[in-house]
Amino acid sequence: MMLGGASLLGCGSEQEATQPAKASAQPATSGKVKGSHVLVAYFSWGGNTRRRAQKVQELTGADMFEIKPAKPYPTKYEPTTKVAKTEREENARPEVASRVSNMEGYDTILLGYPIWWHDTPKLIDTFLESYELSGKKIAPFCTSGGSPLEESLPTLEQLDKQATLLPGLTANDMDSIEPWLRQLSLV
Ligand SMILES: Cc1cc2nc3c(=O)[nH]c(=O)nc-3n(C[C@H](O)[C@H](O)[C@H](O)COP(=O)(O)O)c2cc1C
Repeated sequence: MMLGGASLLGCGSEQEATQPAKASAQPATSGKVKGSHVLVAYFSWGGNTRRRAQKVQELTGADMFEIKPAKPYPTKYEPTTKVAKTEREENARPEVASRVSNMEGYDTILLGYPIWWHDTPKLIDTFLESYELSGKKIAPFCTSGGSPLEESLPTLEQLDKQATLLPGLTANDMDSIEPWLRQLSLV
């Protein structure tokens, strides 16, 4: 498997609090983007996905929520791959540190995550299972060391059959983000 360690260089334990200030504090009318109420929810261990999420947020004006683990992952790459592998083998549901307080106010979720072991990080599984998402639209985007988003789609489809999956994006190329948002009619 390709782990794409190089793309994590310089990222390390970066976990600054891009707090869900808007997402948790605002009423259900927040995150309005072209008639939709849009939330950018993302998990990022090393910062790559966070940078894409920030660009998505800047381009759309959507609200933003960082999916953080209650128990932080190791700061070093190899130990993190081991923890993630165990979580995957055990089909674990690691606890998420905080909740989106007004999830019912959003109809579209732009969901970002790194590909871990050719799939979603298990934290994403926990996140999706924590909410009533029926009727909502979910547009996933990922970063990776080369794996395409498609590797994680079976998991997303299985996790929430009530939500509609919109076209997603392997967002390794920053320049691919705006065309994708155009395709979704969000810019
Ligand atoms: C635990 C772990 C597992 C990974 N598994 C894969 C993988 O299966 N395929 C891949 O292309 N990249 C893999 N990577 C690389 C990351 O997907 C890639 O570096 C991503 O951009 C990291 O995003 P982040 O900086 O937001 O955490 C893995 C990285 C980690 C830490």
